[in-house]
Amino acid sequence: MARRPFVAGNWKMHGSSASNQALLAAALADGKRCAGVDVAVCVPFPYLAQAAGALQGSGTGLGAQDVSEHASGAYTGEVSSAMLADLGCTHVIVGHSERRSLHGESDALVARKFVRAMASTLKPILCVGETLAEREAGQTEAVVLRQLQAVVQTTSPERWAHAVLAYEPVWAIGTGRTASAQDAQAVHARLRAALATWGAPADAIRIVYGGSVKPGNAGELFSMPDIDGGLIGGASLVADDFSAICDAAQRTH
Ligand code: PGA
Repeated sequence: MARRPFVAGNWKMHGSSASNQALLAAALADGKRCAGVDVAVCVPFPYLAQAAGALQGSGTGLGAQDVSEHASGAYTGEVSSAMLADLGCTHVIVGHSERRSLHGESDALVARKFVRAMASTLKPILCVGETLAEREAGQTEAVVLRQLQAVVQTTSPERWAHAVLAYEPVWAIGTGRTASAQDAQAVHARLRAALATWGAPADAIRIVYGGSVKPGNAGELFSMPDIDGGLIGGASLVADDFSAICDAAQRTH
């Protein structure tokens, strides 16, 4: 099945009202130029309104980088899925490795956040990935399947068509090291097979790769049959690089 490629920028904790303007204008142009590619940017909470204004009415999606597991209430500092949808978000990242490792997010908490996003209009971008130690111990498959299964078993898998899965090997994030296209493809194929086994519409679900994707390696990664685009950190902060990666997604699909 032909899946539309998905390319999302993850700005992490970078940006300012002034510097965001050029990046948002470029992302808007990327979304228009790259017909057939779904482009989105995931910006820090304080800039969601600015980004929503800049991207309004365009095809470029807007994502947050995290969401509360709770619907509303006395949860100081938390942001609900309803608030994100209200601000115009289309997507939200759930379970990024930095949330898992630096903020102690467990598989179970990630699953609850995913369910919360699904209950609103947001499309969750669920991140899974192994650490270097886990890879070297031959545990890559076991780790990513455990992380995925924790989420699958708390949701109705048949509702997954709009979810995006991101395979992000932790050792490749922000390090300049990338999984080889073949290694990434093998993990993506395994994840897709598992989704099918669990009753999810596996052929329709975009599985994107993240971890030091740059203009120079995007084409090779995206030409793999089960790699449907990318979640882009560092390179999404350089407008020309992000544009080149969006172009690569269009060229290879
Ligand atoms: P990177 O980050 O592209 O800078 O490696 C990817 C991510 O963390 O989503």
